[in-house]
Amino acid sequence: MRLNQKLTIRDIQKLYHSQEKIVALTAYDALTAKIADEVGVHIMLVGDSLGMTVLGYRNTISVTLEQSLHHTSAVVRGVNRALVIGDMPFLSFQINSDETVRNAGKYLQEAGADGVKLEGGKIIAPAVSRLVDCGIPVVGHIGILPQRVIAEGGYRVQGKNDKEAALLCEDAEALENAGAFALILEGIPVNLAKKITNSIDIPTIGIGAGIHCDGQIQVAHDILGMFEDWKPKHAKHYGKLGQKVRSIFSDYANEVKNQAFPTDDQSFNAL
Ligand code: KIV
Repeated sequence: MRLNQKLTIRDIQKLYHSQEKIVALTAYDALTAKIADEVGVHIMLVGDSLGMTVLGYRNTISVTLEQSLHHTSAVVRGVNRALVIGDMPFLSFQINSDETVRNAGKYLQEAGADGVKLEGGKIIAPAVSRLVDCGIPVVGHIGILPQRVIAEGGYRVQGKNDKEAALLCEDAEALENAGAFALILEGIPVNLAKKITNSIDIPTIGIGAGIHCDGQIQVAHDILGMFEDWKPKHAKHYGKLGQKVRSIFSDYANEVKNQAFPTDDQSFNAL
């Protein structure tokens, strides 16, 4: 793979065909995206998890198209190499086909993203197909669909029984046939994720879907340990950034109060 060159959908396909794991991560701002880009993340998703990680909402339902585009363009500005995917928020792709194209187009035209992600199975396959026909690359997303949290009454692992598993297999096939270039599998049993991964010819990217997926995605704030007292089962804390930030802010606040900051080192004198 070409070093330091912007990745394309074809590069993701090459990774997939050479059986190299695809590394995906969420990002919402330019500086964090720049760091993730520099360590070799292949796909940066500006997830609508933005609602909880950055905007302080209880779930993703409140995220608007404008907010999502705003953060997507920030991530695009921070990234040199990774593919940037905007996550179409609740009701931005369900109203009608023309509105879906217009909204999805904004991710490419206004925010500079490389594609969009849509939650949903075979019911949204016609929308995916229309976007792909218009030249808008699409990532699918099945399993737990956070935009259905109110309808479902919470987040529940999907595909645990035969009927649900069969429906998810049909969804995966429909999205592949509609032209999605990758498929996120969220919160499904390991063996079902393996079966789907083996049955379609586009990369699966798992979150809470086990080791057999072609790649993995995580919410950056989860793996950073930003939520101090909570960790979803699918995530691993690679650090305790929440605690670290708390201690840095606390040191700063104490030093201001005690007049230990600023010192001469942080002050300017006239010539
Ligand atoms: O919004 C998001 O961050 C996502 C990932 C969890 C896949 O959809």
